[in-house]
Amino acid sequence: MNHSLHTATGDPDGAQGTVVFIHGFPFDGSMWSPQLSALPPGWRGIAPDLRGFGETEIRDLPGEVPTGKRIGNRIARGSEPVLTMACFARDIAQLIEEEAGGRAVVCGLSMGGYVALELWRRHPERVRGLILADTRSEADDDEGRENRLRMAQTVRGKGMEPVAAAMLPSLLAPSTMESESDLEDRVREMILRAPPRSVIAALAGMAARHDATTELSSIQLPTLVIAGEDDAITPPEGARRMADAIPDAELAIVPGAGHVSNLENPSAFNASLTAFLERLGPGS
Ligand code: MLT
Repeated sequence: MNHSLHTATGDPDGAQGTVVFIHGFPFDGSMWSPQLSALPPGWRGIAPDLRGFGETEIRDLPGEVPTGKRIGNRIARGSEPVLTMACFARDIAQLIEEEAGGRAVVCGLSMGGYVALELWRRHPERVRGLILADTRSEADDDEGRENRLRMAQTVRGKGMEPVAAAMLPSLLAPSTMESESDLEDRVREMILRAPPRSVIAALAGMAARHDATTELSSIQLPTLVIAGEDDAITPPEGARRMADAIPDAELAIVPGAGHVSNLENPSAFNASLTAFLERLGPGS
């Protein structure tokens, strides 16, 4: 197994448990540094670079990756890879087995939340609790899939610069854009680092993802749903609906934050994360 990992921790043994953090699109595991450095005592954190992102190449991990021909939504072509949520979920299940004693609390932001839900559906034995941040349970609608196709065409023709320019204003809250220029630069650099081939593959995978909305009521796990109060991509109303549908869920709204709430207001995000983990207590 060759997953590039950002790890950290208050406690290398993770006596209380391990949290696996799954990054959004088109980011990498480094986006979780403010959480990895602030976990409550006894908790270990692991933030992998998903297959195709950060330091993990698409072919670094075992297991089949489907192609555009098989998925057939026109976004990835012919023999080009498609990074499905199932494929990412399989990689994370393997990671939890190998690095986290078989079970972990799973925290996913946006695309990472899609992966977390898919992990719960396919590998429920690996999940001890769920944190769903700035994400949604619904699949893409037709308009959403067309937008992904257009983005893939832009990436093919012009690379990641125009994607970063188009995404940033909707990713970050207006207050972040005005005040935190360092963060804007950091997020831009992370987007520009994403390999175009992986970006197209993940766009095709997200466009093909399963709709988990009707399954939310069968999640029998402690769950924390988090949303930035100014998240324009997955707004707080959707987070509220998701939290209402999951039997043992609580909702935290992160003030002054948009879609990347863990980076935009790490202290509020971490306070909710810490309270949730402390309530969970030790376990496996
Ligand atoms: C993300 O932040 O992961 C993306 O906004 C997810 C998406 O494009 O649906």
